[in-house]
Amino acid sequence: MTLLIRNGDIITSCERRTADILCENGQITAIGSNLQAPEGAEVIDASGKYVFPGFIDPHVHIYLPFMGTFSKDDWETGSKAALMGGTTTLIEMCCPSRSEDPLEAIRLWKSKAAGLASCDYTFHAGVTRFDETTTAALKTVVEEEQISSFKVFLAYKGAFGIEDTELYQILALAKDLGVVVTAHCENADLVSETQKRLVAEGKTGPEWHEPSRPITVEAEGCHHLMTFAEMTGAEVYVVHTSCQPAVEAITAARERGVKASIETVAPYLTLDSSYAEQPDFEGAKYVMSPPIRTKEQQDYLWQALADGVIDTVATDHAPFDYATQKHMGHPEAGKAVDASFDPTGQPANFTLIPNGIPSVEERVKLLYTHGVATGRIDLHTFVRVASTRAAEIFGLYPRKGEIAPGSDADLVIWDPGWSGIITAASHSMATDYSAFEGWPIQGRPETVTVRGKLMVKDGQWCGEKGWGGFLPRKPKA
Ligand code: URP
Ligand code: ZN
Ligand code: ZN
Ligand code: ZN
Repeated sequence: MTLLIRNGDIITSCERRTADILCENGQITAIGSNLQAPEGAEVIDASGKYVFPGFIDPHVHIYLPFMGTFSKDDWETGSKAALMGGTTTLIEMCCPSRSEDPLEAIRLWKSKAAGLASCDYTFHAGVTRFDETTTAALKTVVEEEQISSFKVFLAYKGAFGIEDTELYQILALAKDLGVVVTAHCENADLVSETQKRLVAEGKTGPEWHEPSRPITVEAEGCHHLMTFAEMTGAEVYVVHTSCQPAVEAITAARERGVKASIETVAPYLTLDSSYAEQPDFEGAKYVMSPPIRTKEQQDYLWQALADGVIDTVATDHAPFDYATQKHMGHPEAGKAVDASFDPTGQPANFTLIPNGIPSVEERVKLLYTHGVATGRIDLHTFVRVASTRAAEIFGLYPRKGEIAPGSDADLVIWDPGWSGIITAASHSMATDYSAFEGWPIQGRPETVTVRGKLMVKDGQWCGEKGWGGFLPRKPKA
């Protein structure tokens, strides 16, 4: 497989040049002017187009047993959707229940991707309890399974959530092993007590999801994690940060020397709380945790991205069908299927709506349309937050997230002149709805390669199921 991309406007996180890119045996082998096409090479003219490094989504859920159901995509649909949207590497959260062993869980999650994934992938190892077996299991996860990041939940009490003693031990071990701990930061007790109070007051619709986990609850979760990171010296990465007080809790800790990265997600940058307030249960489509916030918070997040305060934009892709799964929280649905996710014990209400918004296919298009095309962020920031920074933080750089000789030939030829709309009628995700139905989009990934192989051409799928490979990662020295 030899590919020559001619005359593209190459954009990386810090450089811009017009040149040809030669890709051989899965890697970029040369960048320059008027490169000679080797015999048999496929030549693509990228004049007038951008060429970006393949985009990386560092927070997705593909196989997710959650709230009494399973998320809708599998690795075939999820990775195809990612590639159609320009994302060439996925990092999935492995989320075992508290009764599952983290090592067994990583092996199970890997088996779900093998043979089905079209894009490259790795995992964050979920740690949902800590007992006398955990240290050995996690050492094996790092050394043999070649995973160098963990995931903890300070939310979802009784399900994935961990106690403070467990958090301390996980962070201390992570510090010893040199791995990054990614964390969902919301104070679980504040959430469950507020949920109980609201439901008892008859406030049961999806519009009450946001008030049940307000920005204060998220900021407390971030402050809490930062205190533990400061005490243990562990490196942390806060997932799906939605608001100013949460970001400020983290930046304050950075000033105290805590090594902490900040992720936000595409839904927070584009949707606002009015979506979850729509009548007739439409709001359920927009229930995720932490919840989508006000326009003011959204503006703050865009500025923090432009200022380099926020490191990455992920999706937290967690796809559930509207007609069936989201309706588990509809007033007529009865009791919870999984009592561990039901703090209220009452008939169905907003606390039983599976949390999550499908968006792996739309992240890059949304970020370009609402960020680059509006002038909120420049092209280099776009590449940095949607690709390069995730590669750096999670030990994939410069194999991924870069356009340079020796890097994997994961490339996105982007047509900035294309315009269209998002619709569930033609998306590749397995869900029956799009949270962005009918939204106009400016620019699209016209051609997408993974290790030099064409997966999308002229905006059409031409990829191969199973082409994607597991990306081994080493801990930081
Ligand atoms: O609402 C969300 N975020 N669903 C997925 C699980 C998680 O918390 O990441
Ligand atoms: Zn989460
Ligand atoms: Zn606290
Ligand atoms: Zn998540």
